[in-house]
Amino acid sequence: MKPAHLYLLLHVLSTASVLVNAFDPITTTVVVGLGATLGRTIYNYLHESCDSKWIAFNATSLEADLESKLFGQHIASRIILKAVTGFMSNDNPKKPLVLSLHGWTGTGKNFVSQLIAENVYKEGMDSSFVHIFTSELHFPHSSQFDTYKTQLQQWIKGNVSNCGRSMFVFDEMDKMQPGLIDSIKPYLDYYDKLDGVSYRKAIFIFLSNAGGESIIQTALDFWRAGRDREEIELKDLETSLSLSVFNNKKSGLWHTSLIDKNLVDFFVPFLPLEYRHVVQCAMAEMKARGVQPDQDVADQVARDVVYFPKSDRVFSVKGCKTIESKLDYYT
Ligand SMILES: Nc1ncnc2c1ncn2[C@@H]1O[C@H](COP(=O)(O)OP(=O)(O)OP(=O)(O)O)[C@@H](O)[C@H]1O
Ligand SMILES: [Mg+2]
Repeated sequence: MKPAHLYLLLHVLSTASVLVNAFDPITTTVVVGLGATLGRTIYNYLHESCDSKWIAFNATSLEADLESKLFGQHIASRIILKAVTGFMSNDNPKKPLVLSLHGWTGTGKNFVSQLIAENVYKEGMDSSFVHIFTSELHFPHSSQFDTYKTQLQQWIKGNVSNCGRSMFVFDEMDKMQPGLIDSIKPYLDYYDKLDGVSYRKAIFIFLSNAGGESIIQTALDFWRAGRDREEIELKDLETSLSLSVFNNKKSGLWHTSLIDKNLVDFFVPFLPLEYRHVVQCAMAEMKARGVQPDQDVADQVARDVVYFPKSDRVFSVKGCKTIESKLDYYT
């Protein structure tokens, strides 16, 4: 709860207790009862809870956000909108939603997770029901594999018991020890309940760079053939993506039973970004800072970015990462 809210609540309660002192016992009981109810109402109003006041999915707004804020990702955009909308409008899903986002660095994987959170939870990424977990930070030592396994299970169980509509983001999956993610397999499966807890309304999102090379190869093939980027379809990427992730020892999903058992609902490819997308990112960043977007500045920033392959200079090496700091330099 924000300090100002807490102060307000305390003020209301202390005023109520001053009033209470002035009355006889029966009136006191009534006033105390009313005060408690009022306190609870204010508390619920101000404090995030696992109900429709705080968790309300807005499909239209997610669509608008994906359309206007996410650049150059027509495939990811479409899959995410369909997957999340379908899942959130189903009151009785058979399993949790499991998305695995793949692609080159700086192409919008964390950014999309944020857009999803903002359109599901009033508090967005600050929601106490959104949990981010980074391999290198949370599970750094390979010797503690068994401890991590248990912790991971307890952590998910505890959070889902607290709120069924919880969202878990596993960042840097490629840096996770192979096999660790398998410990959460039961929670992603088609079970009604496990030990009295239902996981079916939860959302699990895995982020990784694994498979990025195969996506780049396809994007480059299209580019070299003079074909429009928007012509790339999921089917052009999907098979090679899930295979390369499954067979990549460094993917965190190496030979995982999550893929074997088809527990990942969607593999979502993120395409490498081109010059024009970097320009769009720079324009968006200026807008977000409340300054008038300047095309010349955006062009300058985009020209300053490094592109690959060296011969053709098509895709931005860092995607839209570091655009923020580059803008500081030019403005
Ligand atoms: N496709 C995009 N559309 C709009 N903005 C983007 C896009 N990709 C990246 N950005 C911007 O760049 C920032 C960094 O991107 P993000 O953290 O989402 O990359 P990532 O795909 O998670 O990269 P990494 O694999 O290195 O973690 C975002 O906060 C966002 O501002
Ligand atoms: Mg990221």
